[in-house]
Amino acid sequence: MEKIVILTGAGISAESGLGTFRDAGGLWAQHRIEDVATPEGFARDPALVQAFYNARRAKAATARPNAAHVALARLQADWPGAVVIVTQNVDDLHEKGGAQEVLHMHGRLDQALCAACGHRWPAPEEMEVGEPCPACRAPSARPDIVWFGEMPYDMDEVFAHLSGADLFAAIGTSGQVYPAAGFVQEAAAAGARTVELNLEPSATVSQFDETRFGPATRTVPEWVAELLAD
Ligand code: OAD
Repeated sequence: MEKIVILTGAGISAESGLGTFRDAGGLWAQHRIEDVATPEGFARDPALVQAFYNARRAKAATARPNAAHVALARLQADWPGAVVIVTQNVDDLHEKGGAQEVLHMHGRLDQALCAACGHRWPAPEEMEVGEPCPACRAPSARPDIVWFGEMPYDMDEVFAHLSGADLFAAIGTSGQVYPAAGFVQEAAAAGARTVELNLEPSATVSQFDETRFGPATRTVPEWVAELLAD
């Protein structure tokens, strides 16, 4: 049975009202990466960083999955082979849309992480600076988000999936952040067909066998319907 590996990025959640990073007016136009998405930024000004993620957590909590998230969940349920969803997104819209298994390589807004002992727990709506870890009591709670300079999660598992993929799709990602931007090459080297679904061509568009441009709420349900009809 054909195995499908899908990488998603901020573009799949854009039509659910969550901002992307690099589009005009995106998050990285409003905030400096060094300030809010690096361990050094957190060490310098933890209150600023907690406020940034508290705001994003509040927004994600009220966001609803869109037709693209729902279509991928349907593909996972109805495809006869394995469908692995790897997301760079820190929202939970894949899960809210019904997806069964999702690898959150850049972490999750709804989890807290102890920087001292590595314990994880459900994040409160508002995280505060110096909040104690429920396991070790160190005042080291941070958002469970992978920052620049840190190692993304589940990479061994993701690369194992890529090496066994028959079809690889990248959806709503600009192809500018590694290692995710390198997945297409990895999958192609393993013999997978590759397809990009995005609003506009990504930085790695030339590496894909097939491209489908348009809003994810249109392109993803169409693509899934075609796959399931074949
Ligand atoms: P980007 O903001 O870099 O790219 C979003 C992509 O989605 C762009 O290529 C857009 O063209 C596309 N897009 C926008 N609206 C869309 C829509 N309605 N339908 C389909 N596509 C749409 O976001 P990512 O590639 O996810 O990491 O960014 C990767 C990582 O960089 C993020 O996980 C984050 C960020 O810094 C960390 O914070 C660690």
